[in-house]
Amino acid sequence: MSSVNATTFEVLNKELAAKIDTIITNNANNSTKLVGILLEVQAIVPKQYLPLEIAAYISQKMNIPLSRIYDVISFYAALSDVPRADCVIQLCDSVVCKVTGNTVLKESLQELLGIKVNEITADGKYALEPTACFGACDIAPAIRVNGRVFGHLTSKEKVKKVLDNYK
Ligand code: FES
Repeated sequence: MSSVNATTFEVLNKELAAKIDTIITNNANNSTKLVGILLEVQAIVPKQYLPLEIAAYISQKMNIPLSRIYDVISFYAALSDVPRADCVIQLCDSVVCKVTGNTVLKESLQELLGIKVNEITADGKYALEPTACFGACDIAPAIRVNGRVFGHLTSKEKVKKVLDNYK
């Protein structure tokens, strides 16, 4: 039986494989934490996605069928098996964020990035995606940037300050 190793692939280099190993270990190699593990791994992969070689690596490391990993990737909008952007900005469009100023947040993001929701900047640097609640309702309105949550974004100035971290 062939095995997946860190030297087989283009995206999965030794350094990235070591980081993935740490994420799996920190989650006690627990298959019930698969969604969180995939989100954490995706956040450290360039272009914010889970290519086949990485899905296969996780499958082998956690002894989970590859088909199950793809079921999870296709079920969760926050996970992708195609390259996205260097910086993926997810805008929560669930109810608490909506009633706390999500419109100002959305307009600020669109203006500052020069793209609409569901678009990627021409240079492939930023993607703006809608997403369902990710549990940051207490700091709504909120966004998630490459897996990191930012809240209380009630003005364009506050949004700009966040984006300045990802230039
Ligand atoms: S409703 Fe936006 S994070 Fe929960």
